[in-house]
Amino acid sequence: MSATVVVGGFWGDEGKGKIISHIAHADKPKIIVRGGVGPNAGHTVEFEGKKYGVRMLPSGFVYREARLLIGAGVLVNPEVFLNEVRTLKAENRARLDFRCAIIEERHIDADRSSEHLSGKIGSTGTGCGPANADRVMRTAKLARDVVELQPFLTDVPLDVNTAIDEGEFVLIEGTQGFALSLYYGTYPYVTSKDTSASQMAADVGVGPTKIDEVVVVFKTFPTRVGAGPFPTEMSQEEAENLGIIEYGTVTGRRRRIGYWDGELARYSAMVNGATQVALTGIDKLDRECYGVREWSRLTKKAKEFIERVEDDTNVPVTLISTGPSLEQIIDLRDEKL
Ligand code: GTP
Ligand code: IMP
Ligand code: MG
Repeated sequence: MSATVVVGGFWGDEGKGKIISHIAHADKPKIIVRGGVGPNAGHTVEFEGKKYGVRMLPSGFVYREARLLIGAGVLVNPEVFLNEVRTLKAENRARLDFRCAIIEERHIDADRSSEHLSGKIGSTGTGCGPANADRVMRTAKLARDVVELQPFLTDVPLDVNTAIDEGEFVLIEGTQGFALSLYYGTYPYVTSKDTSASQMAADVGVGPTKIDEVVVVFKTFPTRVGAGPFPTEMSQEEAENLGIIEYGTVTGRRRRIGYWDGELARYSAMVNGATQVALTGIDKLDRECYGVREWSRLTKKAKEFIERVEDDTNVPVTLISTGPSLEQIIDLRDEKL
């Protein structure tokens, strides 16, 4: 029996898609199942020279042997879901829980026209906040009510728990990041739900006793899109001098860039119950590390930074990403666990 949860440690966009794809190829899960808010997420995976982005399907889709499930806690935009299923030819393996709540056009309109959400908070405009509000009010439609979704419905907790009980490996993927949590983030500049590891397990219907590993993903230079506090933020000019420019996958907005925040990392690792840390963007800290695949080839600067991350979080750094592409990674899990 084994289940691993992967979550973001900062404000999202830490590179969870890349880390999940690596774990999937290495550990061959039977099921990759998504928790998190909904299509406000955008994961990018670069694989065999191509760049893929997904908003609804699990970002582990590049691993072709796994079933791809969406947990009941996740908001579903049927159009986005069906489009991704078609584009990725995932008809036979993509399923969603029949209880997922549905994002309708009116939710998107309400999100985009709300001065509070779109203006002040800087929401993604994907309708997630208003749809979650309707869900709490118990007026939202569920996936079981949508004709086009009928062929894709399943009971996700049943599928996932059965696989775990049969000794299969299940990968649970989170979206967004810890500091965007409705409970623990920089309220009110947060998303419309908790984003910690426990929430991801709840979203897919798996109890805490069945989770073996929690991998929290941090990036060397945290980023934030939208408004709100960012204690270690640097100026755009500083970021450009460091050669760091990033744009959001969903909204195309320029991401704000900051320096490593050890205090936030420690708190995030604590609430998430991290057993491992995955660190992305080590190549942004030191260009010489780009594409490196062995610990011994990392520079002194990179090794010292990784040691600092371990001191800050009190958790071993087991995965070190050295570039956007799937094979650009150092996997130390065999040595460190
Ligand atoms: P959310 O669920 O939306 O929070 O997304 P995410 O965590 O999957 O991250 P996203 O794909 O939105 O952003 C991460 C970006 O960094 C992508 O463009 C990745 O291709 C890229 N990336 C991931 N790992 C690395 C790395 O080690 N180095 C560099 N240079 N880029 C990376
Ligand atoms: P909403 O989730 O669209 O309501 O947006 C609320 C806040 O969360 C905004 O600051 C968004 O930029 C941010 N946000 C939501 N989802 C993501 C994500 O996947 N990555 C990064 N930021 C996100
Ligand atoms: Mg993203």
